[in-house]
Amino acid sequence: MSFLITVIYIVAGICFIMGLKYLGKTHTARKGNLVSAFGMFLAVVGTALKIYQIHGGSIGFGNFQYILIGMVLGTIVGIPAARMVKMTAMPEMVALFNGFGGIASLLVGWSEIYSHGGGIAAWAATADNLTLSTIYLAVLIGGVTFTGSIIAWAKLAEKISSKPFLYGGQNLVNAAVVLVAVAAGVIFVADPGNQPMFWIGTVLALVIGVAAVIPIGGADMPVVISLLNSYSGLAACAAGFAVGNTLLITTGALVGASGIILTNIMCKAMNRSLANVLFSGFGAAGGSTHAASKEQGEAKPMTPEDAYYILENAQSVVFIPGYGMAVAQAQHAVKEFADMLERNGCEVRYAVHPVAGRMPGHMNVLLAEANVPYDQLVEMDDINPIMDQQDVAIVIGANDVVNPDAREDEHSSIYGMPIINADYARTCFVLKRSMASGFAGIQNPLFFKDNAYMIFGDAKKTMEALIAEFKEAVAA
Ligand code: TAP
Repeated sequence: MSFLITVIYIVAGICFIMGLKYLGKTHTARKGNLVSAFGMFLAVVGTALKIYQIHGGSIGFGNFQYILIGMVLGTIVGIPAARMVKMTAMPEMVALFNGFGGIASLLVGWSEIYSHGGGIAAWAATADNLTLSTIYLAVLIGGVTFTGSIIAWAKLAEKISSKPFLYGGQNLVNAAVVLVAVAAGVIFVADPGNQPMFWIGTVLALVIGVAAVIPIGGADMPVVISLLNSYSGLAACAAGFAVGNTLLITTGALVGASGIILTNIMCKAMNRSLANVLFSGFGAAGGSTHAASKEQGEAKPMTPEDAYYILENAQSVVFIPGYGMAVAQAQHAVKEFADMLERNGCEVRYAVHPVAGRMPGHMNVLLAEANVPYDQLVEMDDINPIMDQQDVAIVIGANDVVNPDAREDEHSSIYGMPIINADYARTCFVLKRSMASGFAGIQNPLFFKDNAYMIFGDAKKTMEALIAEFKEAVAA
């Protein structure tokens, strides 16, 4: 039986690794989800077999009741949550799920301490330092993840203000609280009979989660959620050590590592350090910490009717979507218009910046929802070298991710952030409602370039106006 359980756990681990690999590419992401879900199913089967083994081969309901109750409750919550969540509300759901992962690890740590029949003192006397340390870590990291994720969810869902909550000496206060929590952990491991240290650690973990996330602006929450996802993995990994479950250790480590890699990718794509995201209070939703100050000249407005004449003759068009496309929900109109361009003999591509929008994969999700073929999606590094060969670049509600200052102005707050070089296309249309800045709160010199034209208005309405122009021309 032990051998079978080990094999099942190894296969489940392989499924998780393959699932992560598949999730890395748009066209294999669905498969990645399925393979990972199958891995989780195997993990449950393996754990049930372990319980069966512990109870000497008995299949009585009493031995499996908690697994069964957990599965039923999980199914009741999980299926409707996944089905009903709006694509734009995905970060909120991920935040909540991270929080559940954190509280689960915290509870596993607690149960390891308090579920021993012979009393805590007797158990503590036999427990080794590794077990005690990992129990404390599971509780500490799990607690931070739980409250941190709840605050992240509340900020994103606008249940509380999404602005950074800052006060003087905040970082010092936070550092002091972390130090006390670590000290309590050291005392507890050295003297497990000192139970108040364990409770202090639990309460401080919950406090640290809140304190760490409130100073961060709502628009930076996707980065924070990815980091909390990593924490939930580390907490699960520690819980795995505490209960001696190898699959939990492996899975926790995978989640911990992938979360930190994603966090790093997002920070790099924004050209910001993690410390800047966590401690600077940058990115209050809808606001900015930078002045839109530079005078650049006159932008050239254009009507959809005039834009039509250029687009009608274009041989190649690249769409560059951004946050405004999500706000306007313009993706279906964009796809309809792209189909018209294709029927007109034009080559169509969609260039997606890694941090366009407000969550990882935001644009990919919206374009997939509109059935844009995967092979038309191009990454920034692939489109930039051929941008000067594109007849038209259509920027749909994107701003920072096409701001040439990131390339050219050393004094710009986004200098060094990789961008899509929309300004290198022969003609560039920018679809947005006004000259307002984007997330970074800075002016965009692209709007004033000789080859750039502003088509003002809601992106969906503008796309519909362009579609109407094409239809009119076909009918005439
Ligand atoms: P932004 O720079 O935020 O610009 C979005 C633009 O959309 C705005 O300038 C706005 O201009 C326009 N817009 C809003 N509603 C619109 C509508 N209904 N129709 C047409 N346009 C509309 O977006 P981006 O270029 O996608 O850049 C993303 C930014 O978010 C980057 O700075 C990135 O670092 C940051 N960020 C991203 C992430 C992730 S993971 N994606 C996470 C945190 C932060 P008007 O108001 O004039 O219309």
